[in-house]
Amino acid sequence: MGFIKYVIGDNTVLHLEKEDKEKVKYLLLDYKDNILHFNGINLEELLKKYKTPIFLFSQEILEMQYDRINEIFSSLNIDSLKIAFSVKSNPVPRVAQTFAKKGSYFEATSLGEVKHVLANGGVPNHIIFTNIVKTVSAIKFSLEHGVGLFAVDSWSDMLNIERVCKSLQLKSNVLLRVNPGTLLDDTLFSCTGINSKIGILNSNNLDNDSLLRSILDYCLNSKWLSFRGLHVHLGSQIINLDQYREGMRRISQLISQIENLGTKVKILDIGGGFPVNYGGKEIPPVEKFRDVIQEVFNGQLSSLELILESGRYLTAPASILVFQIAIIKEINPFLNIACVNGSFYNTIPDVIIADWFFPIKNVKHNKNSPIKPYRIVGSSNDTLDLYHGQNKKDNTVLLPKLEEGDNIAFLQVGAYSISFNSTYCMEERPLVHFIDNSSQ
Ligand SMILES: Cc1ncc(COP(=O)(O)O)c(C=O)c1O
Repeated sequence: MGFIKYVIGDNTVLHLEKEDKEKVKYLLLDYKDNILHFNGINLEELLKKYKTPIFLFSQEILEMQYDRINEIFSSLNIDSLKIAFSVKSNPVPRVAQTFAKKGSYFEATSLGEVKHVLANGGVPNHIIFTNIVKTVSAIKFSLEHGVGLFAVDSWSDMLNIERVCKSLQLKSNVLLRVNPGTLLDDTLFSCTGINSKIGILNSNNLDNDSLLRSILDYCLNSKWLSFRGLHVHLGSQIINLDQYREGMRRISQLISQIENLGTKVKILDIGGGFPVNYGGKEIPPVEKFRDVIQEVFNGQLSSLELILESGRYLTAPASILVFQIAIIKEINPFLNIACVNGSFYNTIPDVIIADWFFPIKNVKHNKNSPIKPYRIVGSSNDTLDLYHGQNKKDNTVLLPKLEEGDNIAFLQVGAYSISFNSTYCMEERPLVHFIDNSSQ
């Protein structure tokens, strides 16, 4: 089954099965009769039924992103492939339910996330608990409910897990979570480098006196811990493949070193990182990450169970956020302040926290409208509550003329938005609505 690349609007690249021409029709995020359509649905019509701000999700895009990773990596000659949805990226129950139905694994980082997966159809044995701090109550609950894997992040973390195992007389499967020590310097959310809080630093050789070797030896001798392999999370939105390759090369070396000691590394769990196209910098496609894994782990792959954790890639393209323009203040010809009917703190706080640039589309688009510079601001009194447009000097973005009452859509917002949003100013939570053409 082959895939073709299909561009939705200017920003999202989807991959559709060649045979499935029908899907092309309704997966467009594009203008028809001057109105933005998402999944074939006329947004002006839809928004007559729902109030804004609203997160709209495409069921099809969500499923296709999962299938896409599966399809790309299934060409590797590996013992088994598992995709683990990183729950932290999106807490909407239907998202977890969708992946559970596909047989997904889940990367959970708290007692709340473990419970969320279980409540939404996830198989306990498919849960990997990865947080750097795992509370005793979270470990206890997870063990009692059959959570499959724990990623050991430090010496103390290992002792905590072991202590709870012993008290329950249960043995747990563990991965050692390793920081390869390489720095992803142009990745905004880098988790590696020698000063990172994440993982156990791999000093590049497994000497008797290294911390990693001590933890490994302890683990192998523990009655309550069963060493299954390695976990590595380099960061999120990784765009530098050379640095990704170097991190993976160090992990490959480590696998050889551990196996030279006579211990089998059965599982390699690679946490996150497949990037999303937000516009701007060029993004390597997921195939390139697969090729790096193929090249680096070459002879080791056939006996490995590969787990790929993903949050951003799975969920970001599946959602758009629509606001209404509440008030326009025309300051001067070069600056119009367009105030939306909600706060960014309460919807997509990454525009504040990480200066994140989500592409924007007017829902109604008259081709003859003049293009004007807008500073898009949130509804709270807080001056930080604004979207940082392309023009860094005055934070404006160029858009076709807006009027009060118009709707605007922010694209690619399905990851780390709903999970990050706050209760600041006690604004109401935005609605979440799924568009699911497959059930019609
Ligand atoms: C351990 C781990 N795995 C997976 C992810 C998901 O990363 P992404 O959303 O880039 O796929 C994260 C995100 O921080 C993480 O910490």
